[in-house]
Amino acid sequence: MNPSEESGRYTVTAALPYANGPLHIGHLAGCYLPADIYVRFLRRRGADVVFICGSDEHGVPITLRAEQENLTPQQVVDRYHALLKETFQTMGISFDYYHRTSTPLHHRVAQDFFKTLLNKGELEVRLTEEFFDPATGRFLADRYITGICPSCSFDQAYGDQCEKCGRSLSPRELLEPRSRLSGAVPELRPTRHWYLDLGRHQDVWLKAWIEEQATRWKSNVIGQCLSWLGEGENHLRPRAVTRDLDWGVPVPPEIPESQGKVLYVWFEAPLGYISATEAFFQRLAEAPHERPSWVRGQRWEDYWKKEGGSRIVHFIGKDNIVFHCIVFPAMLQAAGDFQLPWQVPANEFLNLEGQKISTSRNYAVWVHEYLKELPERVDELRYVLTAGMPEQKDNNFIWKYEGTDATTDSYQARVNNELVANLGNFIHRVVMLIHKFFDGKIPSPSKSDPERHEMVIHAFSDITQALEQFRFRDALGNLMKLSSWGNRYLQKEEPWKTFKTEPERAACALYESAQLAAALGYLLEPFMPGTSARIRTMLGIQAESWRWNDATAAQLVGPGTPLPAPHILFKKVEDEEIEPQIKKLSLAVNGATPEIPSDNSQDTAPPQITLEDFKKLRLVVARVIHAEKVPKADKLLQLTLEAGDRRHTVLSGIATHYSPDQVVGRRVVWLSNLTPRSMRGILSEGMILMADGPAGRPIFLEPSEEVEPGSSIH
Ligand code: 2FM
Ligand code: ZN
Repeated sequence: MNPSEESGRYTVTAALPYANGPLHIGHLAGCYLPADIYVRFLRRRGADVVFICGSDEHGVPITLRAEQENLTPQQVVDRYHALLKETFQTMGISFDYYHRTSTPLHHRVAQDFFKTLLNKGELEVRLTEEFFDPATGRFLADRYITGICPSCSFDQAYGDQCEKCGRSLSPRELLEPRSRLSGAVPELRPTRHWYLDLGRHQDVWLKAWIEEQATRWKSNVIGQCLSWLGEGENHLRPRAVTRDLDWGVPVPPEIPESQGKVLYVWFEAPLGYISATEAFFQRLAEAPHERPSWVRGQRWEDYWKKEGGSRIVHFIGKDNIVFHCIVFPAMLQAAGDFQLPWQVPANEFLNLEGQKISTSRNYAVWVHEYLKELPERVDELRYVLTAGMPEQKDNNFIWKYEGTDATTDSYQARVNNELVANLGNFIHRVVMLIHKFFDGKIPSPSKSDPERHEMVIHAFSDITQALEQFRFRDALGNLMKLSSWGNRYLQKEEPWKTFKTEPERAACALYESAQLAAALGYLLEPFMPGTSARIRTMLGIQAESWRWNDATAAQLVGPGTPLPAPHILFKKVEDEEIEPQIKKLSLAVNGATPEIPSDNSQDTAPPQITLEDFKKLRLVVARVIHAEKVPKADKLLQLTLEAGDRRHTVLSGIATHYSPDQVVGRRVVWLSNLTPRSMRGILSEGMILMADGPAGRPIFLEPSEEVEPGSSIH
């Protein structure tokens, strides 16, 4: 078999998104795009592959959303399941099957799995005390309890985390805990749950197995896994696989004392991959004509059980590593006969304009909104997110770069400088020149230029290797280098000039350029499937069932092939197109509904606020004790403030108006309880208030008499 073909079997999964909200670009870049690129690549290489996903429809976030919106949990998941499914489809995420975990099939699969573990003696019952809301008669999940954070005294901390200081908490650590359901003081009450002894698995096989993966798995994944598998305090403990909730997969009713208990969402959600595969094969049995050519197995077991020999690949974000690399493998091993994951190429996070994407603050680029507002730009988004994929570390998405240092990584710059000026320009020139000088037919030169073919072979090998190793940015970067080479080749050959003086040379240059354009048309498919199809059509290539390796053929489009009318692949992104997007984000930061304002609403005054609203601001007099410029940021000064006995770092956009010397020693008005925000890798705590001076110069507000730094302002 040719080394660039693949006859193996693969089960590729992408994390099941919670059906309590829409998708944002961080989800795409972290998980769904890399998964789709990999699967499209495998299919073209001839692998036997299923690509599985579905909506994660249980768990506390869904019931919380239902309560907020006065809906039933089923109504919430029905709405978001439909939205998620449609968004994936429009973005070209080509799942073979998109299932959902509220179906009877999934419930049956998860319950059977639970019973298998129980029968094998893998689950033990433990009696513990959990928080109970006496007013509603319900046990409370951690998120349903609020109280005072023991670290920072924030009075709205949740039972699992303080959103102000970020500390992970357990509900018992909260001071003055309250039920979010009723406001009542929760009581500890005894309850029984089933536990899986992860610590025993750690000692018997799990740790050794993880260590064996160290050479294959990404270092960020292995590092996180090993941090979970320590000794003493850090040794894995038994984990409860059930909860006292009323929304979820019920613990099988035939089991004594199962009433009111459901399977823990992180126990049943990964089993959703298996139930989705089962649902897919049920569907294929009913509609055999829908079987994709790349799915060669006959039963779901072929893709999950040991005897099927499938390579299981879980695409996830970094927050899911422990569940996919430790908990789920332990469950599969405990059940017996299951294949363990072969790869878990987890990505890090994507930030947005220097801040964390936040669904609760509505600070995100929502994919369904993007698709509505920029409907012609699906592949542009796929491109920009792949080029900046957070593969090894967190990365940042920006719409437009407004500083002066040269950068090409904003959405606008990538589309304009890379897609329009490089790829689109090359394809357009090739096709237009063939139309102009060769009557719209691929020329038929008497000699060829082997260098062009060598370039393709070389790039093909780099791209293939990068894709095999889950290095999607590199793979795409190599494709773009190939396109740049094509532009340079045309520039060097100048067929528009040689057409008159050396027609043979012009024919050769355009024939070779057309072959290069066709190779790009093939190799781009995993990344930008729409663009790939358009390029192939423009070059008169009709074959649908081509293989990855075909891109290396010396001739992809024969002499004399007529080319249909050309059209433009990419349009420049103008400022006006993305300004509403930027505006939407700033509205979200300010707590407003993130809708694109109509043109005349730009100057609307802020809404009236109550005294209660005003009291939320913690305004303090502070003294600047140090100031310095932030490297590579023209506008930012990094200030160290003294207020009371503590020091704080604040970034302020005043560097074009004040030098550090002009600022040190001043007393300033400091808004100290603004959510901290990271810019240029520096965490800014709050902000300095300034007045708008003449010509836009910011003017400091200083107390008219001496006051101590740290004094409050009311
Ligand atoms: O983090 C999440 O969005 C989870 N819904 C992922 C679940 S992945 C799998 F286990 F189902
Ligand atoms: Zn805190």
